[in-house]
Amino acid sequence: MSTPDGEPVEIATHTLLHLSDTHLTSAGVLYNGVIDADRALAAAADLIARAVADGVGVDALVVSGDLTDTGDPAAYRRLADALGSLGPPVVWATGNHDVRTTLHTELLGRPDEPGKILQHHDIAGLRILVLDSTVVGAGHGRLEPEHLAELAAALATPAEHGSVVVLHHAPVPPPSPLLAYFTLERASRRALAATVAGSDVRLVLAGHHHLAQSGSLAGVPVAVAGSTAIRVDPLARPGHERTVVAGSLNLVRLYPDTVTVSVLPLDESLGAPQAFAMDEAACAELIARHPIVR
Ligand SMILES: [Fe+2]
Ligand SMILES: [Fe+2]
Repeated sequence: MSTPDGEPVEIATHTLLHLSDTHLTSAGVLYNGVIDADRALAAAADLIARAVADGVGVDALVVSGDLTDTGDPAAYRRLADALGSLGPPVVWATGNHDVRTTLHTELLGRPDEPGKILQHHDIAGLRILVLDSTVVGAGHGRLEPEHLAELAAALATPAEHGSVVVLHHAPVPPPSPLLAYFTLERASRRALAATVAGSDVRLVLAGHHHLAQSGSLAGVPVAVAGSTAIRVDPLARPGHERTVVAGSLNLVRLYPDTVTVSVLPLDESLGAPQAFAMDEAACAELIARHPIVR
């Protein structure tokens, strides 16, 4: 494949698929009374399975909390079955709808740790550090000084390809009035900013807002993945909360000198038609018809 200026084609060093807010319910229960969260998860899993089968390298799946709606152990097991069998390792974060101890037991294999765990993952030289932003019994988020001190201690030694920090409560302004109430405390956002400033953190991944968003924190890009099941309408009438049944996930690519985040709506699984598809020969033929202007 060519480029217009003859520079080599850019190749990502790491590719992540970032899912969030799967909100799996207990068997037979619909999420918010109307949504089959398992069906939405299956659409995401199908998309990932197809990419892996087609040879798209995926280094890890990141799932940034609200994995289940009420903490049902069976729902965690269904989630682990659906995503754990796809090939890439899975990184799990805890959300306000999760039950921390059940998540630790079912997904992390650490049943004896009721407190917050800072998870460290090494994905081919890329360090993924997972915070727990939850407050037991509450919907909003908080990062305590001790938890951030652990993060700072980990970040004191840079990783080969830098670090990605994952947490549930997004450290950017929320898109709706209800989420303004259930958001990450501002003091925690400021403290996290101070911790990642000047470190090797290249990207912060989060969820909770049920809407794909991008922002920044102390100059570090922040990418929020939407829910696999629903999407908040950020253009709802002021003061109103409105969601639609429409899921998405994010494709995260890290390059030596930048990162890209692409939102992948799960609409194809729900019947969006293909516009066109070209194989390598067809791409080469199209390129041949478009000479470079110098
Ligand atoms: Fe959620
Ligand atoms: Fe949440």
